[in-house]
Amino acid sequence: MTQFSTRVGVVGTGYVGLVSGACFADLGFPVICLDVVPEKVESINQAQPPIFENGLEELLQKVVIEEQLLKATLDREEMFTKSDLIFVCLPTPSSEDGSIDLGYIRSEIKEIGMLLGKTSEWKTIVVKSTVVPGTTSGVVKTILEESSGKQTGIDFGLAMNPEFLMEGVAINNFSNPDRIVIGAVTDKSFNHVKALYESFDCEIQKTTTSGAEMIKYAANSFLATKVSFINEIANICEMLGVDVGEVALGIGLDDRISPRFLRAGVGFGGSCFPKDVKALYAVSKQVSRPSNLLKATLDTNEMQPLRVIDLLETLISVQGKTIGLMGLAFKPDTDDMREAPSIVIANNLLQKGAKVKGYDPIAKETARSAIPGITHCNSVADLLQEVDAAILVTEWSEFRELKPQDFERMNNKIIIDGRRVLDWVTLQDSGYSVKVLGQAVP
Ligand code: UGA
Repeated sequence: MTQFSTRVGVVGTGYVGLVSGACFADLGFPVICLDVVPEKVESINQAQPPIFENGLEELLQKVVIEEQLLKATLDREEMFTKSDLIFVCLPTPSSEDGSIDLGYIRSEIKEIGMLLGKTSEWKTIVVKSTVVPGTTSGVVKTILEESSGKQTGIDFGLAMNPEFLMEGVAINNFSNPDRIVIGAVTDKSFNHVKALYESFDCEIQKTTTSGAEMIKYAANSFLATKVSFINEIANICEMLGVDVGEVALGIGLDDRISPRFLRAGVGFGGSCFPKDVKALYAVSKQVSRPSNLLKATLDTNEMQPLRVIDLLETLISVQGKTIGLMGLAFKPDTDDMREAPSIVIANNLLQKGAKVKGYDPIAKETARSAIPGITHCNSVADLLQEVDAAILVTEWSEFRELKPQDFERMNNKIIIDGRRVLDWVTLQDSGYSVKVLGQAVP
């Protein structure tokens, strides 16, 4: 395989940093990843991903062990010296008011700036973390210049290159992007980053750093709004005797709308949509253009997980009953429990006096700490045993294949499908009462 001379540094081996680093290495670039957690560094160097992501273990095996193109380190200076481009992939958690906390970025950028001050080599610092418009050209640039004593664009490059990776399919998304967005302070910075993506045949959009930051927020906010939109349509459909699946199909066939992100369900979760929509809403208020649409997207999403409990309560009162939650992760193929609708559903059921059992094929450990108050089961069979009702929360493929006999050890034959994936007709024909989100309530 071709090996390139441009060396890539990655700061932060979370999901974005590690996946991007491994994929750059897979393209043939030498990559060095910095993290402050010794266990993470050690496990990456043994090709063991500290996070669950489809295909990542095999990819690390290839780039860390076989090709030796990726290594992780705790030593910032080593990472800095061995990189030409440095991608900052640190978390930007939500603050109380929805705005983002730049604490990790600020302190790391200061350290990088100090190292920049001591080198004569050209380096380009690339922000990959999701940051609000103006952060790279404001906070990041200022700290880099203050701590290095050098000038952006003249002594070093600066760019913003957002990621559009979906958890669970991130490696595939990296390799087959719809577009690559690079916001840069100068042409030299832009070209430096662009060189990494030469082998891709998608559009590479050149923009400002603030433009790139806004594109990331607008993309996630649009998709989240699409989800809230179809969820509201689903809620209306239920009352009108219309199936939302047919509506999603009918509107999705319109090229201008597209069928993607039109699956009605219990609402969006994860580390990105909720946080990013909140942050953009906070920005809209700061600039005196409060976005009603973003607020509505968030409001709808806050209520949506509870819709499955509404449906359940059309059949039984939940107090004193045992309810089984099928799937706990915020979506399938991940163990991520951040902002998972299952948390809201479980807590609401507990508040109403129900006992709750939960099962997730992968999110076992993460779910135990995110929802400690419920009984965690090791299999779907365990979960369904002696429950008064089952609610499908996350559409793992394992659940799609369930047959009526898999539910037969339940106390009551009540099933709520919050993701519209079960074989309702067969289940109903076998005597189950099945309520499906976005379908007519008889
Ligand atoms: C999202 C974006 O899709 C990525 O492009 C982006 O890079 C990423 O955030 C990020 O900012 O890092 P992700 O959070 O992995 O990716 O998850 P998605 O697959 O987009 O799903 C988000 C949520 O929307 C999930 O809870 C999912 O269940 C829900 N969803 C999605 C629906 O309820 N219906 C749909 O039709 C699609």
